[in-house]
Amino acid sequence: MSDSWWRQAVVYQIYPRSFADANGDGIGDLRGITSRVEHLRDLGVDAVWLSPFYPSALADGGYDVDDYRDVDPKLGTLADFDEMQAALHAAGIKLIVDIVPNHSSNRHEWFRAALAAGPGSPERERYVFRRGGGPNGEEPPSDWVGYFGGPTWEPVGDGDWYLHLFAPEQPDFNWANDEVRADFLRTLRFWSDRGVDGFRVDVATALVKDMSLPLPTQAELDAEDVVPGTHRLHDRDELSEVYAEWRAVFDSYDPPRMAVAEAWVPADRIKRYTSPDSLGQAFNFDLLQAQWDAAAFRAIIEEHRRLDLASGSSSTWVLSNHDVIRHRSRYGLPPGTDETAWLRSGGQDPAPDLERGLRRARAATLLLLALPGSTYLYQGEELGLPEVADIPVGARQDPVWAISGGDVKGRDGCRVPLPWEATGPSFGFGAGPAHLPQPGWFAGLAVATQSDDEESTLSFYREAIRARRRLQTAESVEITDSAGDDGDTVLQFARPNGWTSITNFGTEAVELPAGRVVISSGPVEDGKLPGETTVWLVAAEG
Ligand code: BGC
Repeated sequence: MSDSWWRQAVVYQIYPRSFADANGDGIGDLRGITSRVEHLRDLGVDAVWLSPFYPSALADGGYDVDDYRDVDPKLGTLADFDEMQAALHAAGIKLIVDIVPNHSSNRHEWFRAALAAGPGSPERERYVFRRGGGPNGEEPPSDWVGYFGGPTWEPVGDGDWYLHLFAPEQPDFNWANDEVRADFLRTLRFWSDRGVDGFRVDVATALVKDMSLPLPTQAELDAEDVVPGTHRLHDRDELSEVYAEWRAVFDSYDPPRMAVAEAWVPADRIKRYTSPDSLGQAFNFDLLQAQWDAAAFRAIIEEHRRLDLASGSSSTWVLSNHDVIRHRSRYGLPPGTDETAWLRSGGQDPAPDLERGLRRARAATLLLLALPGSTYLYQGEELGLPEVADIPVGARQDPVWAISGGDVKGRDGCRVPLPWEATGPSFGFGAGPAHLPQPGWFAGLAVATQSDDEESTLSFYREAIRARRRLQTAESVEITDSAGDDGDTVLQFARPNGWTSITNFGTEAVELPAGRVVISSGPVEDGKLPGETTVWLVAAEG
């Protein structure tokens, strides 16, 4: 693969605590991943994106990092990391690690030092401390509300408060501080020297903030019609300087390390993250948020094609990750369902149509895999796993659950450990019960259950990824259906070599054009494409 292998890669996200547990403590670990590399090789993925595996008290599933240059002892050692990476590389699979630069955990040695050193100290300058309001500093510096709900300021008992845009255990770094900037460059080099191929950059838009006084209120923050690039907390122009420094580090390696930004920003801002002198690529969450609708999919694909041509980057297509309801369940719910309320009902109200959800999920996956750009798959989607929406209250781990006082159920339902076998205390995940309870119906979806079944979703993923590899062309796509005709329900596009993908978003079968069927997401008979199905065609002689 070339230096720009990431441009059209199939990347598989591993949420390590829930992938495979080699030591039987109920938490997935690095040796567990090593033991399952064969699964990844059989699937045919080009790369793995590994969610955080650093030492962490797991206040936010590992996105609260105690030490950026070590492995959580619950997950293994640096030697285990090297062994896992070597096994992946030997199987021809690249490794992208998750880097969390917006905040550390409150157990990071710098944060402990900041607490010990007191107000006005250089140690506190590495984070965002401000004096509280009121006569004795007992009021927070502002009324801001964090991403998980709840206040963004935590008092430390001496009149100072620290900023945390996420959980209180995740203090935000001060990116105006030179030590912070230098330390992250050191971390990037540390993992690059060890041989990783790239980085996924968590909350890439929030690092740089304007904290000058007076601080605006939340209402002012929300209402402000700010000039793009000047919002107090998000997507500030100065971020480009940070990422230019990072890019210099990435490009000092041969091959250059890639990076992909988690950046929820409007289309006209995305190139600040995707350009070659910045991180190079960014997540595109648009299809993940789109309704099951041909016109919506078409508009998103066209827009991202335009953006790619403008920035020189390539798109990332994604339907599921560790932060959202699994797409099989989403696609089984009526349009407009309030997902938070649905989770509150334990996944009962309304009851999802999981057959339909799976049909659409498979069709959407096949569509994604035909697009130019890279496709990000989330562990378990190759098994057709739905969301586990009824995790008992006592087992909930997502900080959102506690911060909302038990109102918002959070993201645990997509993080339930994978079923590898149909039997056993945790369906082959480990030797004992898993850290999040697995439902009994996981048995029917286990890897071992599906592996030799040609009709299974697992077999379908394997075949689709193999076919994609065979057909892959330059990054180019032409939408070839005609809106207004079948265009309302059918989305058809082709690559330069004639590799054509057709998705029928409707429920009625439609005529297929001439061509040889390479693969379809559901049965195709008598020259007709059934509803909620995708097919790939090539020229009859191809
Ligand atoms: C990650 C989340 C995490 C948050 C805070 C997000 O972008 O994907 O899982 O809770 O960042 O680190």
